[in-house]
Amino acid sequence: MTAPHWFFRFMYDRESAAWERRRDEPGQRELVKRIADELANVVAPPGPVADLGCGPGAHALALARRGYDVIGVDGSPRMVEVARARAARDKVDATFDVHDVSAPLLFADASLGGVLAILVVQHLPHPAAFIAEIRRCLRPGGHLLITAPARDSTSLTSRNLYWRLRAACYQLVPGVVRFYDTNSLPRLVEDQGLTVVECNGGPGRVSVLARACRDRVRPCSSEVPSKGLRNGTRAGMDGSRPGPFGISG
Ligand SMILES: C[S@@+](CC[C@H](N)C(=O)[O-])C[C@H]1O[C@@H](n2cnc3c(N)ncnc32)[C@H](O)[C@@H]1O
Repeated sequence: MTAPHWFFRFMYDRESAAWERRRDEPGQRELVKRIADELANVVAPPGPVADLGCGPGAHALALARRGYDVIGVDGSPRMVEVARARAARDKVDATFDVHDVSAPLLFADASLGGVLAILVVQHLPHPAAFIAEIRRCLRPGGHLLITAPARDSTSLTSRNLYWRLRAACYQLVPGVVRFYDTNSLPRLVEDQGLTVVECNGGPGRVSVLARACRDRVRPCSSEVPSKGLRNGTRAGMDGSRPGPFGISG
């Protein structure tokens, strides 16, 4: 269970300016760049790329600056306003729309080259349905880069009191958000027929890069054996070193 959509919409509407400021901090800019680099390594421009739960649009704009056709989608109207204003101010061409991503996505089948889902899946009541929708929209060979919060104490050490209290609330009040780890996030993605290419556990976060198989009839999980991945036999899986996108939300 997670808190209802209206709760997050209310909360993120009020936090939109704070998130924009946060993503502008030097350390965060570097992390945003690393996430954009990671997707750009596997998705050729122009994509197209969807940033689901795009918030203030930092990742979407980083990709748009590199020549990708980007559409950012968020359930918070104020987040979308912030992202649009930022795009206009920076003269970057990207589209931002309000949409609840726990509903069917507004993209055609096999129409996207890449999808970003940075710190949004933890809010969704039916994460498997969300991943299934992403798979439907990705074209064969397309990639998903998804991150989710992990239950550890990293966020509780933030120097900012507000973010610290917020993290404590998430961790201490059962059912507000769902936490993931280097087993559960790859499993969620694989169970919907995507192939996990890489998984990293970083401070407070877990990240998965996954590919839509070329043959949509054959299950993707047969392309790459998943057992080894789950057992942490590939780089970054054991959480012993921060992943390339072990972002601090
Ligand atoms: C933790 S913020 C991350 C924002 C952005 N991805 C980033 O990393 O800067 C989570 C975002 O997910 C959005 N969100 C939460 N539930 C959503 C839903 N059901 N549909 C669309 N967006 C949602 C929130 O409005 C918020 O902007």
